[in-house]
Parts: sequence; C-alpha cells; structure tokens
Amino acid sequence: MSVIGRIFGDDKVIYETHTHFDDKAFDNDRDDAIRQAMAAGVKRFVNVGSSMTSSSTCISLSHTYPEFLAAVGVHPEECADLTEADMTALEAMAQDENVVAIGEIGLDYYWDEPDRDIQKKWFIRQIGLAKSLKLPVIIHSRDAAEDTLNILKDEKASEVGGILHCFSYSKEMAKAYVDMGFYIGVGGVVTFKNGRKLKEVVEETPLDRIVTETDSPYMAPVPYRGRRNTSEYLPFIIKEIADIKGVSFEEVSKVTYDNAVRLFGK
Ligand code: NI
Repeated sequence: MSVIGRIFGDDKVIYETHTHFDDKAFDNDRDDAIRQAMAAGVKRFVNVGSSMTSSSTCISLSHTYPEFLAAVGVHPEECADLTEADMTALEAMAQDENVVAIGEIGLDYYWDEPDRDIQKKWFIRQIGLAKSLKLPVIIHSRDAAEDTLNILKDEKASEVGGILHCFSYSKEMAKAYVDMGFYIGVGGVVTFKNGRKLKEVVEETPLDRIVTETDSPYMAPVPYRGRRNTSEYLPFIIKEIADIKGVSFEEVSKVTYDNAVRLFGK
C-alpha cells in the first residue's frame, strides 16, 4: 500500500482510462511509477497512443504488465505526415488482443498547425477504421466542440461509442455527447480552483456516463498541480468527483470502473 493508497483506504478499484506511461517523462523510473500507481489502487490502465511509434509502444507495455490495455491512434497534432500506409499499419496493430480502442484521435484548433482540413481528414479516416474494427474511439478535442460533434454525428461514431477525453467544454455540450452515447473523461482539471466549468459538467452528467483518467504526464491534479502527473494521483480526481456529487469515494470508483469495463469489454 502506497502513501496515497493509505489516504483513501484499501480495497479500491480504480480504472485509469487515459495515461501515457510510454512518454519520455517516465524514462528514468517507468516501472517504479507504474507500480506506485498500482499500489494506490489502480487496477487497470489504458495506455493511449498519440503517434504511430507510441501506438506500438502502448502494445508492448500491455504485454509487459497484465493490468495494461492499449489504444492505438494518431493525435491531431501528429497527423500532418500520415499516409494510407500508416492506416494499414494501425489496422494491423489493432489486431493485437490487448488493443481495446482507437485513440487518441480528434481535432485540436488551439494550434494553427496542422491545417484544420488535414486534421478533419485523418480524424474521419480513423473513425472509419474504428468502425470497421468495431472498437470504441478515444477523442481528443480542444477548441473544436462543434466540428467534433458534427463529425461524430456524420460518421455515425455512436455505433462504436467512446470517450470525450479530458473534457473541456460546457455542460450543454457534455449532454449532447452523452445523448449520442459517449462517455465524458474527467481528469485533474476538476480539482483546479479555476475548474468550475468541469465541476459543473460533473454535477450535471450522470455518474454512469463518466470515466476517470489522468492524461499523465500532463495535467496533474491538486495537490500536485504543475508537477509531472502519474496515474498514482487518480484517487484525488475520484475524491473530487465524489465531493461534487455528494456520494462516497467507493461509489465513484466502482461505477466509473464498471463504465470503463462496459466500454472496453475488459
Ligand atoms: Ni492524452
């Protein structure tokens, strides 16, 4: 039992739906950091791909740690040089038994590059891949709420469902995604003093449509804000969700765990 494990009690079941332990931020202590997260109560991890290379590392990690599953996909910021050959390679990677989703894929209009049309093209292409493989999608969407929603609708992505990861939009937008059958991914921002918008989303969204994530190494929750994030800090996110909803820590961890199992099938 780790220090954080002790703070929140034992017998927890926590599902980390979005982490990046392949990131270079863990190059010096990857195994320790993963074991610390397990000691804090995280029972299952989806390590999410963001490029062709990281997607392949996600699969390797899932074969090293039985608690790990993998998502393969290319992030909008990494899609500028994608080719059809990459799609064929992704499709082949997705045949691995530990691959449970296509992601992270989506739109990021915060930066000017790559061009929006290029982002849309590869987002749509990877949704098509997910549908043909019958795998859910893990969506990264920043400053692109309307376009993301419209593309998911037009491409009938609700046939496979998925997660709006690191949700940053309004409660009205959350409802629109939930009505389409998607889950809302809630991470460290919910613990921030200026995270009022996400707190409102958590208040309004039924617990059976929320999944928990860290997006580590980014976005560490309070009291670690600004430091390297790791899945070990997930209990702080769960505690905040429990406080907002006025339910117990155990209820949040149990319900969100079951949500992730329902979506990923394991
Ligand atoms: Ni991510």
